[in-house]
Amino acid sequence: MKAEAIKKIAVIGAGNMGHQIALACALAGFGTSCCDASREQLQKAEGFMKSYLPGRVAKGKLKEEEARAAAERLTFTESLEEAAREADFVIEAVTENLELKREIFARLDGIAPAHAVLATNSSFFVSSLLAGSTRRPALVCNMHFFNPALVMKCVEVVQGPHTAPETAALAMDLARKLGKEPVLLKKEIYGFLVNRILARISEEALFLLDTGVASAEDIDRAVVNALGHPMGPFRLMDLTGIDLSYHIAMERYRETGNPLDKPSPTVVEKYVRGEWGRKTGRGFYDYSEK
Ligand code: 3HC
Repeated sequence: MKAEAIKKIAVIGAGNMGHQIALACALAGFGTSCCDASREQLQKAEGFMKSYLPGRVAKGKLKEEEARAAAERLTFTESLEEAAREADFVIEAVTENLELKREIFARLDGIAPAHAVLATNSSFFVSSLLAGSTRRPALVCNMHFFNPALVMKCVEVVQGPHTAPETAALAMDLARKLGKEPVLLKKEIYGFLVNRILARISEEALFLLDTGVASAEDIDRAVVNALGHPMGPFRLMDLTGIDLSYHIAMERYRETGNPLDKPSPTVVEKYVRGEWGRKTGRGFYDYSEK
């Protein structure tokens, strides 16, 4: 199957990543259904679409008819059945809970057409942890987008031992149709490419903060102005979610048993306090005014 043959995409999860992945699919011309068990989350996703598209038109980045067509192509539903029953390609982007993902993959396997690819946007769970919940392991892979998904060009496609090469090729092809520059991982590895590199940067930044060497603001300022990164590691953690940083480190620790892999004291403190970054209005920075 080629990406041109994909008529319908289902994006499961309308959170931080899912709502933008779904909109990217609709903007690229695919009939897209965005599904979430939370009505509130769906309303937020729809609200984002309704302000984002006119904003793009006002900026001259999109024609009015393109914006209208994208909005018409994107539907929101609480029903997994409705989202996936005609889908040729499913991208799961629910919270990083392995049991939940397994359950969703098993349900999707019973709902989606037999030819449909089931991809996960997980930041760290390799798809071989999910493939066994389905009767179509050859059609299961990782397709990992970056935040904000409408902007960031990279998509990591991971071909697990169970993934058919054609499935990985289709995911790469689809990513290109979404205007992305995908990269292919020929082996499963924890953290894939980008989060492995990013983790080293964040760990070092947290060490420098935790040991009182410099403030979060100054560490961010240094990384932006000395290394040319678009934002420093603390602003980036606020964008991607400190809850995610916590879970990534905990998962790594569970895997290795190495205490050095545990989340840093600052991350634990912020996680427990519910200061998860932009999504909660406060993280390393305060967003309550915005
Ligand atoms: N949603 C959608 N679009 C957004 C956006 C958002 N949240 N924030 C910014 N944009 C768009 C703007 O509309 C603008 O688009 P245009 O140029 O086409 O008009 C463009 O991005 C630039 O926006 P701004 O001028 O307002 O702001 P910046 O130039 O500061 O860019 C940024 C913002 C794109 C977020 C930039 O700071 C950046 O690239 N930061 C690094 C992000 C990053 O590293 N992401 C990867 C995180 S790791 C990850 O996601 C993995 C996961 O597993 C944790």
